[in-house]
Amino acid sequence: MEYVIGIDIGTSATKTLLMDSDGEITAQASREYPLYQPGNGWAEQEPEDWSRAVLETLKEVTEKSGVGEEEIKGIGFSGQMHGLVMLDGAGKPLRRSIIWCDQRSSAQVEEMLGLMPLEKWMEITANPPIAAWTAAKILWVKENEPELYRKCRHILLPKDYIRYILTGEFATDVSDASGMQLLDVKNRRWSQEVLKTLDIDPALLGKVYESQEVTGTLLPEIAKKCGLAPGVKVVAGAADNAAAAVGTGVVLDKEAFTTIGTSAIVYTHLDHFTRIPDGGLHVCCCAVPGGYFTMGGPQAAGLSLEWFKDAFCRDMEEEAERAGTDIYTLINEAAAGIEPGSGRLIYLPYLMGERTPHMNPKCRGAFVGLNTIHGKAHMLRAIMEGITYSLADCNNILKGLGNTVTSMRVCGGGCKSRVWRQIMADLYECEIRTLKQEEGPAYGAAILAGVGAGVFDNVVDTCRKLISTSLAETPIPREVRRYRNYHRLYDRLYEDMKTDFGLLYDLENLEE
Ligand code: XUL
Repeated sequence: MEYVIGIDIGTSATKTLLMDSDGEITAQASREYPLYQPGNGWAEQEPEDWSRAVLETLKEVTEKSGVGEEEIKGIGFSGQMHGLVMLDGAGKPLRRSIIWCDQRSSAQVEEMLGLMPLEKWMEITANPPIAAWTAAKILWVKENEPELYRKCRHILLPKDYIRYILTGEFATDVSDASGMQLLDVKNRRWSQEVLKTLDIDPALLGKVYESQEVTGTLLPEIAKKCGLAPGVKVVAGAADNAAAAVGTGVVLDKEAFTTIGTSAIVYTHLDHFTRIPDGGLHVCCCAVPGGYFTMGGPQAAGLSLEWFKDAFCRDMEEEAERAGTDIYTLINEAAAGIEPGSGRLIYLPYLMGERTPHMNPKCRGAFVGLNTIHGKAHMLRAIMEGITYSLADCNNILKGLGNTVTSMRVCGGGCKSRVWRQIMADLYECEIRTLKQEEGPAYGAAILAGVGAGVFDNVVDTCRKLISTSLAETPIPREVRRYRNYHRLYDRLYEDMKTDFGLLYDLENLEE
């Protein structure tokens, strides 16, 4: 039997799995690490925490599985997007990584728009400049830590730092590189024009590969440490959302999936390059050679539920403990007991500002329509609905461009909830399918490794062979009609409150 390894370098943890050539998972391991928030809206992680987690989980899966080292043929990565890793000439990180959800570089976004008009950014990078993406973070370091920037010899994304540790190579893949805002997305190569405009030396960046291409082999000392054979092929891998697409089998035109974790994303595969007017959805290269994807969704998805649970659901925690069950089981039961519309209560999920579709870092969360009949269960359901209105808005942008999705696959923690999946079916107005293979990004990374190492033929055929779905929920016509009214109002509320959100944000800033 032949085996491959998929490694997902996530925000809360690294997950590593070993998969056989029939797609069965033989062993898995994960390690958590901290997120540092040294300022308001700042978010950093330690690259060495990621490498420690990767080396430990690699060792654990090889030991647990008992598979002979010669049978393991390839390694692939999936990684949290946009994070900035800077190395000195000796390959040592110069500072903590400024990661995807860090918002400190909004001034640099303004500068980028001053250096090149929005239309040109859209033409080359397919996306408007935003603080979450890597280019603005690089400019922030250049301006605020010039000494450190002068010492920088390599700029890498999180998973590409791990590639350097495992193979000594400096490289990235087209999907992750798309999220740096330095790539000519249509032509799948670094944009010399953007690099020149931002005065970033091209020599700082690694070579760009397609996701299944081999970028190097394991260094002998690393192989020995992890119980692997030296010379195991390491493929380029993909951004977490692009890897999750492979892991959920979303690899053909207009196939789509939704994932609900800390943030939520609705992802659609497109065979051809498309630009989304106004940048209301992100557009990136995908892990299938020549393909693209759009993605959008609320920043605070699972985070909204988590926040509400921690702030107001202590009694449910206690009840769950008494009953020996999980609090999310109780949350789902509570939400399922409330009618669609949550008793005329609407939640706006902007706890962390919003990216797609509004691109507004100043908006904040709200419950609108609170009444004395409302209890926690109404609010929990309203949170699920608010997040899904936001996802449906992103999906509707694509619908408006003639790309109607007829079937939605789901992965990630939030999508395990039946009641939430039904809300999705009613708001997307399409069927919802769950997957037998629930690992998403790490599974996709393993498939990419298998293709690169010659264990599998190609990405699309392998997904068709290994991944199976089941029909879980279909739209309920009465609820679809009901939700259309609520959804219209949800959209209006943002427009009505947009100015006040700005005023409130500035008020907070004055007080600081
Ligand atoms: C996508 C994004 C997140 C990160 C973290 O633009 O920022 O999905 O990749 O998972």
